[in-house]
Amino acid sequence: MSKTVLITGASSGIGEATARACARAGINIVLTARRRKQLEALQEELGGTCKIIVGDVTEDGFNEKLLRASGTIDAVFINAGHGIDQDTLETNMNDVRSLFELNVFATVELASLCAKQFKKHGSGHIILCASCLSKFATPSHGAYCASKSAIEAFAKSMRMELKPSNIHVSTLHPIGTRTEFFKSSASRSGTEHSSFEERAPSWLMQSPEQVANAVVKCLHKPKPEIWTSVSMRITSTVFAAFPRIAQFFALRFS
Ligand SMILES: NC(=O)c1ccc[n+]([C@@H]2O[C@H](COP(=O)([O-])OP(=O)(O)OC[C@H]3O[C@@H](n4cnc5c(N)ncnc54)[C@H](OP(=O)(O)O)[C@@H]3O)[C@@H](O)[C@H]2O)c1
Repeated sequence: MSKTVLITGASSGIGEATARACARAGINIVLTARRRKQLEALQEELGGTCKIIVGDVTEDGFNEKLLRASGTIDAVFINAGHGIDQDTLETNMNDVRSLFELNVFATVELASLCAKQFKKHGSGHIILCASCLSKFATPSHGAYCASKSAIEAFAKSMRMELKPSNIHVSTLHPIGTRTEFFKSSASRSGTEHSSFEERAPSWLMQSPEQVANAVVKCLHKPKPEIWTSVSMRITSTVFAAFPRIAQFFALRFS
């Protein structure tokens, strides 16, 4: 029998591409996000056993409703997230709180709810969307990097706790990915353009389809971390060991 995967943030970018890649691989999908029109268009395109549930994962009680409405799932890809470009001296706490509500609190809540359900079933797979920026930071993205580092730390702890229950926990670490992410981060920060997207060399950018294929591969064969760029994986290890080198490069490309 084929697997069923719940995907959050499925109305665009990485989530949307993963929905398509799952459908191609014969995986049943339950898709959620706030924009009904985009989800309905995707459901029509993919047909088959694609279910959609519209809502805001940061709303009180929505994650419980989402799981109830999803029915039995074998895996979850918790992908919904956003960014902000904001210097420390311009920190707006409302922006930081709403970033953490989505990237951290809603993610932790849904992961915990899924873990309880998977434990009852005796197996499951939780994939949390972190970033390569969970491993190192860039200027003007302190809050975003902190939110992704928090998710990575939470996942590491969860992975050890849930191993005896046959529940896999993976984190996804994309490099820059051509999605709505940069435009929406810039507009949330009161600017029209993302400096990173404009200045990033092509080897630091990838398509959402590349990420989606890596997620599907991990659904078939679970592993702790999903990387689409081997060079960034190695670079992030070097950055962790040598903070001055990390700072030099982060200043150059941000
Ligand atoms: N793009 C990159 O370079 C990059 C790199 C590393 C990591 N990531 C991570 O990848 C994930 C996906 O981002 P993306 O690049 O695919 O960007 P995206 O195209 O902007 O997708 C974000 C998704 O999250 C959903 N979402 C946002 N707020 C939500 C809320 N309150 N409730 C429910 N859904 C919500 C959006 O749908 P609605 O607006 O319809 O709700 C959308 O489907 C994020 O966690 C991001 O941090 C992105």
